[in-house]
Amino acid sequence: MERAFPRRSFKEANIYLIGMMGSGKSTLGRLLAEELKRPFVDTDEWIELRAGSSIAEIFRERGEAHFRDLETASLLEVSQGRGWVVALGGGAVLRAENRRIIRATGYSIYLKIRPETGLARLPSHPERPLLQVADLKERLRLLRQLLLSREPYYLEADFIVENDGPPDEALEKILQALRHLS
Ligand code: S3P
Repeated sequence: MERAFPRRSFKEANIYLIGMMGSGKSTLGRLLAEELKRPFVDTDEWIELRAGSSIAEIFRERGEAHFRDLETASLLEVSQGRGWVVALGGGAVLRAENRRIIRATGYSIYLKIRPETGLARLPSHPERPLLQVADLKERLRLLRQLLLSREPYYLEADFIVENDGPPDEALEKILQALRHLS
């Protein structure tokens, strides 16, 4: 049975940043947390701390399904925070349970970027196990494919902010959007 989660007051609500790899979730998350004087947490870092190994190692040694379980567990923990700014991994929206936790405990902001921006921001990155192809065209194709399958979930966010430019522009747009809630 689906649990009914009441949404919290703005002060108590977490702010979840969602979007593709390279969309700037961690960078903007830090800036936003600083601006709003809220704690910041990055679930990928949280997972790595808990597991004592890197995301790449987890994928390699235990597979993606195991990583997704750790991701849901970390989201469950982090969602207990009050008023936190949370940067989620790009694939966190894939599970219905994760989407429910996000909706119930806070507001979500989709940092929307073009796949070309993602490609430019992610030069061959050993810690991005889903993008392990050397050929740039092939990597762009992968990013497009991932975006196509995920965007319907990203678009469910409370706010959509384009972030193909410098972070301070997106930060200003986020702060403006949030002003209506506080
Ligand atoms: C993933 C994105 C990564 C990380 C993992 C899987 C994805 O996080 O969670 O490599 O499925 O898009 P970032 O979006 O922070 O790069």
